[in-house]
Amino acid sequence: MRIILMGPPGSGKGTQADLIEQKYAFPKISTGDLLRQAVQNGTSLGKEAEVRMNRGELVSDDTVVQMVAERTAKDDCKQGYILDGFPRNLNQARMLEKLKNSHPEVILDIQLSEEILIQRLSSRRICSRCGKIFNLSLNPAVQMDICDLCKGDLVQRRDDRPKVIKERLRIYHSETKPLIEYYQRRSVYHRIDGERPIQTVFRDIRSVIDSETDKYKQTGAIQ
Ligand code: AP5
Repeated sequence: MRIILMGPPGSGKGTQADLIEQKYAFPKISTGDLLRQAVQNGTSLGKEAEVRMNRGELVSDDTVVQMVAERTAKDDCKQGYILDGFPRNLNQARMLEKLKNSHPEVILDIQLSEEILIQRLSSRRICSRCGKIFNLSLNPAVQMDICDLCKGDLVQRRDDRPKVIKERLRIYHSETKPLIEYYQRRSVYHRIDGERPIQTVFRDIRSVIDSETDKYKQTGAIQ
């Protein structure tokens, strides 16, 4: 199964991808995380990506598609995987379809109001060591600024500053939103109300994944 998580910045893709990974044991592939890792490692790709990410712009399609192709070719993706934040535009969606390691798909599009997105992004903190996602007001760590899992420091992402959030939302509307029209003609496209608590959203997601899995089993597409 290939699970595609769509939605605007701050809609909860990363949070839900972690929960799906724990429940279904499919690896989470977040293009944002892979790019942040490359930035942290100081690779040439990371240096190129950092400038764009700090401005809230998309990194080039060829770069991210290459990253996804390499990651999904690994053994742990044979049974399936979760794509968080990819594809991000029509060109990426078409390139994804050409990848060899395709699977039966479920597309989950998490939607909520822009006002709530901005609140969530402004108060998000992530662990600088393991990447776990927290929120100062909505999903706080037990100890302020310390990760519950690995005790790493919690930091604010550079692209969670107000000016960059505005640009990311602008790019979402111009480049990513047209993807909804592209995908919503497919029966595997599901819109998820992301305005509710994390576990309530996850309950909906689980029910969609389970019912799509059953359908694919009936057609023999998966065992
Ligand atoms: P990326 O890291 O993918 O950022 P994004 O898509 O903008 O999404 P976010 O990570 O900001 O939010 P999210 O939806 O995962 O929400 P989260 O779960 O954290 O990309 C960053 C950059 O990398 C891009 O701008 C671009 O430059 C580049 N990039 C990445 N992919 C690319 C691609 N394919 N092509 C080109 N460039 C690419 O939740 C947000 C907050 O809300 C958290 O604090 C969380 O605790 C809280 N929260 C979540 N759910 C709930 C809930 N239900 N109730 C209350 N609080 C909640």
